[in-house]
Amino acid sequence: MNEHYPFVNPPLPYAYNALEPFIDTKTMCLHHDRHLQTYVDNLNETLKGWDDLQDWSLEKLILNADCLPEVIRQSIKNNGGGVYNHIFYFNGMSDLRSRNNAGMLFSAILDDFGSIDSFFQEFKDKALSVFGSGYAWLVLDRNHGLKLVTSANQDTPIVKNLCPIATIDVWEHAYYLKHYNQRAAYIEDWFQVVDWCYANKLYRNYISGCE
Ligand SMILES: [Fe+2]
Repeated sequence: MNEHYPFVNPPLPYAYNALEPFIDTKTMCLHHDRHLQTYVDNLNETLKGWDDLQDWSLEKLILNADCLPEVIRQSIKNNGGGVYNHIFYFNGMSDLRSRNNAGMLFSAILDDFGSIDSFFQEFKDKALSVFGSGYAWLVLDRNHGLKLVTSANQDTPIVKNLCPIATIDVWEHAYYLKHYNQRAAYIEDWFQVVDWCYANKLYRNYISGCE
């Protein structure tokens, strides 16, 4: 995607049907082509005419949203966050079946959560605990600790100084067509398509960047 305005909707890094049977093709098409596209369009519309903000990166806009003029502040949070969160979510999945390829991250998860089973259970509980729309995240805090956190609507953990490693979108549009209102079933299916190689790459980058 562009570094700055006008932002564009990057193509999925896999085919729309790549995550079948866990996440269905129609959901992926609508989620990427319509929901994410709408956030991109609304973000660009918000920035139209704000020349001094048009060379700002997405992260800079999100991190400094509270300092922006009130008339665009909430729209930048909602739509900038919507773009950031969705791209992160889509990039964090694949059909590579990489569950056993988490490398350094695998060891860190064992250290911080005790076992893979307890990690998945805690992640599932966290994702189920989101009331209404939002996300559950695996993040790295500034002490190099892994944590599970939630965010409401299109809030992002980067504004809390947390480094995101993996996320599940639990807005109903992410799962309603296939899973109806069964969020737990969707979470179980999402576990099957998490790209742990990608998550490990992010984890390694954060760790090496902090050294
Ligand atoms: Fe979404």
